[in-house]
Amino acid sequence: MSTYRVAVIPGDGTGPEMVREGMKVLEAAAKSYGFSLDFSRFDYGGERYLETGEVLPEDAIEQIKEYQAIFLGAIGHPQVRPGILEQGILLRLRFDLDQYINLRPVKLYPGIDSPLKGKAPEDIDFVVVRENTEGLYAGSGGILRKGTPHEVAVQESINTRMGVERCLRFAFDYCRARGKKKKLTLCGKTNVLTYAFDLWERAFREIGEEYPDIEKDYGHVDAVVMWMVKDPEYFDVIVTDNMFGDIITDLGAIIQGGMGIAAGGNINPSGTSMFEPIGGSAPKYTGQNVINPLASICAGSMLLDHLGEKEAAQAIEQAVMAVCSGKIKSLSAGRMGYSTSEVGDLVAAHLQQTAV
Ligand code: IPM
Ligand code: MN
Repeated sequence: MSTYRVAVIPGDGTGPEMVREGMKVLEAAAKSYGFSLDFSRFDYGGERYLETGEVLPEDAIEQIKEYQAIFLGAIGHPQVRPGILEQGILLRLRFDLDQYINLRPVKLYPGIDSPLKGKAPEDIDFVVVRENTEGLYAGSGGILRKGTPHEVAVQESINTRMGVERCLRFAFDYCRARGKKKKLTLCGKTNVLTYAFDLWERAFREIGEEYPDIEKDYGHVDAVVMWMVKDPEYFDVIVTDNMFGDIITDLGAIIQGGMGIAAGGNINPSGTSMFEPIGGSAPKYTGQNVINPLASICAGSMLLDHLGEKEAAQAIEQAVMAVCSGKIKSLSAGRMGYSTSEVGDLVAAHLQQTAV
């Protein structure tokens, strides 16, 4: 029987409640599908920072590297200045573990209302592959003459051939393996960002020659967001840079029903990857057992898929779909008709029933 060692970072706000339910479902899947999970908890987050003044311990990256995956709740604390925890924990883990892909499925499940009028599950089913270690997130730039009328702020987008190429290759391979429309859309801005997206576009064309079975498509980011709303069925896989990916995946989350259901993976194909619900720490709902844990449960499904437990991963997705159609009333916190722990129980119970 395989045993997977998973680092758990519950984090801030509703993170711990979400992760608790995610782990409940992961345990149920392990039991039903014949593998085991060895979880270790790490207390990284706002509370720890406020107590100790330290965002991540010195040896955090070395320690966490030893795990096969990371299961994350949420990072962000109302008493900590924005940026400190996000950069010091979330982005640090992404960068130092070289999780160069941020994978975000956008899928409308049956029974969930999309804010897009007239769109059904068959219309909203695509995946965004976001570059996760470069671009505007690289932290290149600085401020000169701060606080004076002559202040200058520069924030540069870093795009390396290596970084762009490995992201594109991942996207082409992913699109092929997904086996749906076999269309890869590069989302860029070649008409204005004529350096960065020149590199992206050339690499896309060159690497694309190795994938004759994949249709190559291009859209400027401002057009892509229009199509995501008007014709989401147009898309299969979208590949884009870090900043555009950040923005368009929040739109993606909303059209699939909201932050209550949206999950993502920070992937290093040959290292330690990290899976998370993409909503924030929702401080106002903390500790009330009202937050929707489905996003964390879906992140758990992605984690198992990544570890190679495909059957169990699919079973979790099926159980989530079953709970979405018919059972829960709304994906919004406090309006589900069930508590956080009850939603976890429903998914776990469905999973166990279908496995036997
Ligand atoms: C996300 C988040 C992060 C990002 C923040 C919290 C740093 O918005 O995962 O999309 O910008 O990448
Ligand atoms: Mn974001």
